[in-house]
Amino acid sequence: MTNDVGFQILNFQPCGDDRGSLIALEQLGNVPFDIKRIYYMFDTKEGISRGFHAHKALKQVVIAVSGSCNFTLDDGKTRTSVLLDNPCKGLYIDDFVWREIDQFSSDCVLLALASEHYDENDYIRNYNAFIKAKNT
Ligand code: TYD
Repeated sequence: MTNDVGFQILNFQPCGDDRGSLIALEQLGNVPFDIKRIYYMFDTKEGISRGFHAHKALKQVVIAVSGSCNFTLDDGKTRTSVLLDNPCKGLYIDDFVWREIDQFSSDCVLLALASEHYDENDYIRNYNAFIKAKNT
């Protein structure tokens, strides 16, 4: 599913007509896992950075359904930036990928589809612990 740094850009095909655009997301269709949770971030204050964690099991797809933000993805060896600035563009993030999110536009609504329910024990919030986990 992923490239060798644990993420994949997904290009969603809109069902556009004269009235506007629509994108449908289906589990095990254009979203490659069973969707157990959906959440969204909005009203993120200027200059704020979020994330700073990896997950042990959770996989997710994130979409800037409005506005834009920047993801930095880190597999322990390589750091890559991905700008989300289009509701037709999704970002699949595998487990054990460190993510940092910044450059939120004031109108950014960041939608996240997750393969797991919320579980704080699934988070790795310390970068050194993440690197250690990657190397064991
Ligand atoms: P957090 O995961 O720290 O956000 P981020 O890492 O993207 O900056 O989540 C912020 C707060 O929201 C934290 O107290 C946990 C809580 N939260 C839930 O209760 N349920 C959820 O599904 C998520 C994603 C977060």
